[in-house]
Amino acid sequence: GQQAYKEPHRPQIHFSPKEKWTNDPNGMVYHNGIYHLFFQYYPDSTVWGPMHWGHATSKDLVHWQQQPIALYPDSLGYIFSGSAVVDKNNTSGFGKNGKTPLVAIFTHHDPKGEKEGRNNFQNQSLAYSLDDGKSWTKYNGNPVLKSPGITDFRDPKVFWHEPQKKWIMTLATKDRITFYSSPDLKNWTKESEFGKELGAHGGVWECPDLFSLDDNGKKVWVLIVNLNPGGPNGGSATQYFIGDFNGNKFTPMDSSTRWLDYGPDEYAGITWCNTGARKIFLGWMSNWSYANVVPTATWRNAMTIPRELKIKHVGTAIHVASEPVAELNSIRLNPVALSPGARKIALPGRLDLSMDKPDNFSVTLSNDAGEEVVIGYNKEQQQFFIDRSRSGITDFQKDFAGKFVAPRFRPSGSMDLSLIIDVSSVELFADNGLTVMTAIFFPAKPFDRLRMQSAGNAPFKKLTYANCKSIWK
Ligand code: FRU
Repeated sequence: GQQAYKEPHRPQIHFSPKEKWTNDPNGMVYHNGIYHLFFQYYPDSTVWGPMHWGHATSKDLVHWQQQPIALYPDSLGYIFSGSAVVDKNNTSGFGKNGKTPLVAIFTHHDPKGEKEGRNNFQNQSLAYSLDDGKSWTKYNGNPVLKSPGITDFRDPKVFWHEPQKKWIMTLATKDRITFYSSPDLKNWTKESEFGKELGAHGGVWECPDLFSLDDNGKKVWVLIVNLNPGGPNGGSATQYFIGDFNGNKFTPMDSSTRWLDYGPDEYAGITWCNTGARKIFLGWMSNWSYANVVPTATWRNAMTIPRELKIKHVGTAIHVASEPVAELNSIRLNPVALSPGARKIALPGRLDLSMDKPDNFSVTLSNDAGEEVVIGYNKEQQQFFIDRSRSGITDFQKDFAGKFVAPRFRPSGSMDLSLIIDVSSVELFADNGLTVMTAIFFPAKPFDRLRMQSAGNAPFKKLTYANCKSIWK
């Protein structure tokens, strides 16, 4: 049979489970030198089904080791998305013999209740681990937060709020976010709601996250709200708000809708907990519009590259910028300088360019079957684009073949851009991460050429391509 991780379209520098279905990243927590990544997982099929939490670990955010399944469905339902925390003070009482508990807070989704048309089939539950995430025990008092009768009541993201010495849960509740607090992870009190009248509402709100970032010595709070559908390029996407959180209530600084990633294929992205001042984000690299039918056989779907989030200012505007984590440089081989024109390349790889006076340019990935993905910048529109109209296998869903655009936020001056290119995906990071786009593709034959084109006299100040080592070798 086929060797694992060598199949056509298998991501070489992104995490995907060895086999079967995955969607959202879950329970991302850094503990004792290990980054844990749990994920929505269905071990019996390559389409969505009764959800488990799969598990993978990494020491460097680049190389991943898949671990045994952490959480199985039970009599209370499927194990939907959620988070995990290090309960240092043993507030939960799950710790024993001085062992610090890792506590997972997740949604129990009861498929029977849903089928019977009840409205309280999503409830929040706990599980804990006393062996650094290797084995998990579900709390016998589950669920700890029962649905008040809202059909979408899920995806708890929990953190310790030091000033008020309590846990805060950020929960997706249909068309808004509801914040709860707890002294012990077991007893939850409603604090406030946010967002019914703000942000994008083309679909249901899911998978939120709330954390602070440094802004020149000041603290600002970022509230991530995933949305499906209703994204800027159709289907699922990640919006965010910037503001303040006082322990009870989130107050946005303005009413704009911002997007962490404009491409079609980043969803359910949230951040790792317990990483100190660093904030590391990772999303599911797919879209609910077609995630169940993308043309892969052994596994279905993968995660994005981990990205570091930072506050950036452009004039009077404020943004959360994302850049690939620096650890990724460890798999980068020697960069070669490119000149405009076509050449053979090997994927995966990373392209870096900069221009003092940005003008139209394009980077075309192609093969000798005439398939291509075109990535570039349109100066007149001040937009980046990824065009996968002719990218190979696209007929599994009507909107897959398309051209996707994203605004440029730096109105003038130099431009820098990095493309992380895997065998079936591209992630674009422009202007130090102010604009990000992710798109997947499925060429019938591997892409092995790169063509650079630029308009007028828009010389590249820098233009390099570096092949990257597979993380599975
Ligand atoms: C988001 C989501 C979550 C839910 C999970 C179920 O993609 O719909 O809201 O918990 O997937 O797998």
